[in-house]
Amino acid sequence: MSKGDAVLNQTMQAIEEKAIDASKKLRCAIVGTGWIAEAHVPQYLKFPDVELVAMCDIVPGKCEKFCKRRGVDYTNIRFYENLDEMLAKENLDAVSICTYNATHAECAIKCLNAGVNVLLEKPFTVTVEEAAEVIKAEKASGKLLTIGFQPRMDPNMQQVKKIVDSGVLGEIYYIQTGGGRRRGIPNSTFIEKKTAGIGALGDIGCYSLDMVLNAIGYPKPLTVSGYTSNFFGTNPLYQRPDQDHTAAENAARFNVDDFAAAFVRLEGGIILDFRISWAMHLDTPGDTIILGKQGALRIPSTECWNGSVGGEMTLYSDVAGLQTETKFPILRNNKDLFELKVRSFLDAIKEGTPAPVPSSQIYYNQAIIDGIGKSAALGREIELEIPEI
Ligand SMILES: NC(=O)c1ccc[n+]([C@@H]2O[C@H](COP(=O)([O-])OP(=O)(O)OC[C@H]3O[C@@H](n4cnc5c(N)ncnc54)[C@H](O)[C@@H]3O)[C@@H](O)[C@H]2O)c1
Repeated sequence: MSKGDAVLNQTMQAIEEKAIDASKKLRCAIVGTGWIAEAHVPQYLKFPDVELVAMCDIVPGKCEKFCKRRGVDYTNIRFYENLDEMLAKENLDAVSICTYNATHAECAIKCLNAGVNVLLEKPFTVTVEEAAEVIKAEKASGKLLTIGFQPRMDPNMQQVKKIVDSGVLGEIYYIQTGGGRRRGIPNSTFIEKKTAGIGALGDIGCYSLDMVLNAIGYPKPLTVSGYTSNFFGTNPLYQRPDQDHTAAENAARFNVDDFAAAFVRLEGGIILDFRISWAMHLDTPGDTIILGKQGALRIPSTECWNGSVGGEMTLYSDVAGLQTETKFPILRNNKDLFELKVRSFLDAIKEGTPAPVPSSQIYYNQAIIDGIGKSAALGREIELEIPEI
């Protein structure tokens, strides 16, 4: 067995060995039955310690259509068009909030105030002020809030953190990160401020930021010089039709960012150079690199950035006066990342352990995203004002 295989098997064993105590069933519900709910619902249906008792969507009939389309037996699932009503009637233990970004904060606050544990889809919120309000509700409720960053469950992402934590890079002073797609605008509810609030920044930028900020322990961001544009989304030439709109209609309603870049100063003197793109005349804006005084790590980008490692990583360091390169092969994962995301949420509720992806960390992720928008609007660098909670 190669060293790589040994690491892989350890990872698989760690995931498979955990037994589920099904003596008490958690009463769970889904808020927002759109596209990403398709990745959440099967998880709640598969675990023996969970009852999926309710679903809620503001669009009349959408929950039922969802179940019919996905072949979900809904005999014991009640449907709601109003979240307050569902919370008042269902005595829930946990919800997945799968609404579009603009209603993340309001839904999360309502659920936490009702004493329900929350798995909130990414991005955390649209603005940093909203994120602060959600964290206040989380603290007042004493309930668990985790943010839906499933790349955290990817052993390759975990490897990035392990390499940094090992100290082999020494003191880190510069990071370049981000990702991009030549053409990859999602359309649907992702491209209007009234539903998405933010574009590529919130959709895929949050993953790039999390990959490196989680690895270095989420230092506080201090200043941001940000830029955003939307030359592709607003141009019918680069737009696609979807089931509800022509390409021209999608271009006309597009009013979020499709490209963003930023220069961010973090506490500890670390510089973060960031760029993200849903569409551009380039395949990728470059690999992620982490430069330290003792070594450096290169993490290859993917063609269609969605928060995964694009190929074997390389660690550069000097050993006994020689410049060396160590390769880290891609680790296979034997489980669906959404299964691990939902399972880790349920386990944390049952075991009283901390949130798998804590809001306190993603608060800084959101502060950078928010700061990029604010700095871009002003056309200059800004100091981040992150409300204390
Ligand atoms: N983790 C991932 O890999 C991943 C992938 C795609 C999308 N997402 C995130 O999931 C979220 C939803 O994305 P989507 O593609 O499913 O969007 P969508 O528009 O298909 O679905 C959102 C649903 O939420 C409903 N909704 C909105 N406000 C509501 C409210 N107050 N109460 C009840 N229902 C409400 C809408 O009617 C809609 O049906 C977004 O925040 C997106 O960033 C995450």
